[in-house]
Amino acid sequence: MKIAILGTGMVGRSIAGKLRELGHDATIGTRDVAATLARTEPGAMGTPPYSAWAADHDDVELATFAAAAAGADLVVNATAGAASIAALEAAGSQNLADKVLIDVANPLDFSGGFPPTLLVKDDDSLGEQIQRAFPNTKVVKSLSTLSAPQMVNPLMINPGQPDGSQVTVFLSGNDQQAKDTVADLLRSFGHADVLDLGDISAARGPEMLFPISFRLLGVLGPMFGFKIVR
Ligand SMILES: NC(=O)c1ccc[n+]([C@@H]2O[C@H](COP(=O)([O-])OP(=O)(O)OC[C@H]3O[C@@H](n4cnc5c(N)ncnc54)[C@H](OP(=O)(O)O)[C@@H]3O)[C@@H](O)[C@H]2O)c1
Repeated sequence: MKIAILGTGMVGRSIAGKLRELGHDATIGTRDVAATLARTEPGAMGTPPYSAWAADHDDVELATFAAAAAGADLVVNATAGAASIAALEAAGSQNLADKVLIDVANPLDFSGGFPPTLLVKDDDSLGEQIQRAFPNTKVVKSLSTLSAPQMVNPLMINPGQPDGSQVTVFLSGNDQQAKDTVADLLRSFGHADVLDLGDISAARGPEMLFPISFRLLGVLGPMFGFKIVR
């Protein structure tokens, strides 16, 4: 599949790298290709500059949000949640129409410092806002409750354990076929516990897990995950 990953951060890089390993055609989208390649400073969270990652991944193309989305069969939103609608508008609704969009973003507001708060919650979600803004796109919320490395390596916490002990990855969206496509892709990443929560309004719950995730990160470090025990 030809997949556009909008977002040059940890998440976009992890997903793009995994997709290439699996033989997909992966293009990462950014606002300004030259500016992104010219950055030499680490990001706010200490993420190495994009060019350092790209040097080891010359099989992943970097393009503008619009060029990346235009050529893709499926699109991933891995942009900062506060900027996701703007990034998707830059990608162009015509380039997203009739396509599956996996929304990985968390709607975080860093304007008041740390910890960030949620820009939307309770009776709405970023996933729903994106679906309303792009009604012809099949939005599927997923992966947002996992760390970037865990998204593409679900066994990293408990290697060697049976599949049943894997972290749970949630799905929500209005289009069943789109969710089936995403579930297949997640299984190809190694996810064995894919849990469909229903329509896109079910994105509220996973997005609202962020505050507890943030606290758990402080207590446990990055090696934890949510497991729904049935
Ligand atoms: N990091 C994690 O482990 C993790 C885990 C779960 C979910 N998430 C969510 O996944 C998403 C990506 O996270 P991340 O840490 O990889 O990267 P990030 O730093 O949150 O986002 C980087 C991307 O956002 C774009 N962006 C920032 N401001 C923008 C603006 N004003 N207009 C358009 N685009 C803008 C950047 O564009 P440029 O390329 O042009 O700079 C870049 O591509 C976030 O929503 C995050 O909450 C992250």
